[in-house]
Amino acid sequence: MKQQLENIEKVAKQELDSCTSIKELDDLRIKYLGKKGELKAILNQMGKLVPEERKEMGQFANRVKSDIENALAEKLETLKAQELEQRIQSEEIDITLPGKKIEVGKLHPLTTVMNEIKDIFLGMGFSIADGPEVEYDYYNFEALNLPPDHPARDTQDTFYITDNILLRTQTSSVQVHVMENQKPPIRIISPGRVYRSDAVDATHSPLFHQIEGLVVDKGITMGDLKGTLETLMKRLYGDDCKIRLRPHHFPFTEPSAEVDVMCFNCHGEGCRVCKNEGYIELLGAGMVHPKVLENCGIDSNVYSGFAFGLGLERVVMRRYNINDMRMLYENDMRFLKQF
Ligand code: DAH
Repeated sequence: MKQQLENIEKVAKQELDSCTSIKELDDLRIKYLGKKGELKAILNQMGKLVPEERKEMGQFANRVKSDIENALAEKLETLKAQELEQRIQSEEIDITLPGKKIEVGKLHPLTTVMNEIKDIFLGMGFSIADGPEVEYDYYNFEALNLPPDHPARDTQDTFYITDNILLRTQTSSVQVHVMENQKPPIRIISPGRVYRSDAVDATHSPLFHQIEGLVVDKGITMGDLKGTLETLMKRLYGDDCKIRLRPHHFPFTEPSAEVDVMCFNCHGEGCRVCKNEGYIELLGAGMVHPKVLENCGIDSNVYSGFAFGLGLERVVMRRYNINDMRMLYENDMRFLKQF
């Protein structure tokens, strides 16, 4: 029996020496010290011995057991240290590698110019009004002096939700909301998205942006309109910028005008950008039609007002010399990175 125990100890130590992983070590623990292990098997035969031999063998077996236990514990420490060392090496970070560059976003040119225009008007004492993009026919057309069969509706075909509810074609609808809810003096701009069922091309999009302006007070004249727009254009395009008013027709203003701005490229000389006109059409404007004032409960004998509607895309395209409107919506980074 002693021989057997010595043998077990010898083989166990050899196996421990060649063991290379914690998992393997655990298997060895079970093999030698487990309930069904080799040591246990021998100790189970102890009962067959005479008492003196049993005592001596018992002591010897216990020594073998604790020797193996110690060797296992020692080996475990060694293996743990080895595994830690391996992990440190495999997870090592090369701090000399160049870092990944993080790209910083920028505002879209439409947003930049919109913010600029808002700032200019806030500086002139205007406030900013908001209105719904999904709108009643009444606010988009009828209250603006465009009754159901008015021919000017044809130029502003849109997307209908019901016969009576549509996506607004112009920010002019906000004029009506503001005048219904606010007594003069009124001085607002209303920037936002508008919709028309136009096919997409270099100068058309079913969604675009307008900035509406409305001033209503006692004694407002066309001179106030011209001065306000001139200030806007000088701030946008520089102090030498000139504007020109051409007679036009809008159902909701009387008189009405189209407003041209001196070509930023040739300063009025005539060039390719302005198609030799020297001026570029930028917005519609006029004196608020008395009917529109009355529709909104404002006495047109006491108050007068001017209004204008500016296409944001046009301003941006002129500003940055962009010749295709689609680029503003396609989110091509090669385009957007230039601003
Ligand atoms: N709503 C017009 C359009 O979309 C632009 C416009 C013209 C607005 C004259 C006005 C205005 O307020 O007075 O074509």
